[in-house]
Amino acid sequence: SQRMRMLKRQMECRNDIHRLNAAFLAIYQSLIPPEEERAKQNQLLALLEKLVCKEWPEARLYLYGSCANSFGVSKSDIDVCLAINEDINKSEILLKLADILQSDNLQNVQALTRARVPIVKLMDPGTGISCDICINNVLAVVNTKLLRDYAKIDGRLRQLAFIVKHWAKSRGVNETYQGTLSSYAYVLMCIHFLQQRRPAILPCLQGMETTYSVTVDDIECAYFDQVEKLRNFGSANKETVAQLVWAFFNYWAYGHDYANSVISVRTGSIISKREKDWTRRIGNDRHLICIEDPFETSHDLGRVVDKFSIRVLREEFERAADIMQYDPNPCVTLFEPY
Ligand code: GTP
Ligand code: MG
Repeated sequence: SQRMRMLKRQMECRNDIHRLNAAFLAIYQSLIPPEEERAKQNQLLALLEKLVCKEWPEARLYLYGSCANSFGVSKSDIDVCLAINEDINKSEILLKLADILQSDNLQNVQALTRARVPIVKLMDPGTGISCDICINNVLAVVNTKLLRDYAKIDGRLRQLAFIVKHWAKSRGVNETYQGTLSSYAYVLMCIHFLQQRRPAILPCLQGMETTYSVTVDDIECAYFDQVEKLRNFGSANKETVAQLVWAFFNYWAYGHDYANSVISVRTGSIISKREKDWTRRIGNDRHLICIEDPFETSHDLGRVVDKFSIRVLREEFERAADIMQYDPNPCVTLFEPY
């Protein structure tokens, strides 16, 4: 922590910190989806609703993931959840759905019934948008709302998360099938990081009075969702996005205790691996970087990380931290393709 204090002082002395902040804000602005993309997404959702309701009048469609959690960059695919109360199995529904979509001229329709999360993929030639539809993944709809609610509290969360996601995609460390982290995991890392700043920039919504509560698959999801009342929460902290990006990478490069710590948005704090019994490898879960899901608390979003990809990740965090510290032009170097 002495090293952190020293680095922090150096960072504050970077005499280009204001220019750097303006450059990060410009990158953030350039990643925000234009309003007409939203209109196209809604147009596609309306079409899908029409088709689905013809076959299953009781079914409902929900947007989740980055098109609904406010962390979506321009030209993202959309994620849709079909909520349906029928006893036929998921594969049958997906195959039937694929049939329906195909006969309505949607393109590249593909049912992936054996995936970890089974889905139908499609591309809508009308809007040019690609879309994944899953069945009854209601927890994802609820965690989407949690992320969106956090984003409303302080604008710096969205700025930081856009920069981190853009960095992760540029550097090839946003590929769960290659053992690196999902976008969802990176956003949780950003939320946790801002809960930990002093003064704090984000509160811990699950630690406050419950104003929203649903039970999904026996998991009670409850938190304070009247976030309009928290608009000034982070105002005592004056850090800019450039300082936060620097401190975020510095934390994951040099500050985090990978051997013992779990980051937990649910509690707004660091908890120990021991208390979660995440100290040894069980099956394929190695727990080399531990990110607790806010609702499915037995779920470690770092479970995809293996002994090779943890090195890749940590080297990338160190590279990013060092660039933020010393590089004359971090806004370019940080995002260089790997
Ligand atoms: P991009 O598509 O990369 O812009 O980001 P995204 O926010 O859509 O993220 P991602 O594709 O990683 O995940 C889509 C959504 O699925 C997330 O927002 C979550 O709601 C949900 N999700 C993804 N991974 C998990 C997981 O491991 N556990 C749970 N409970 N939900 C997940
Ligand atoms: Mg997505």
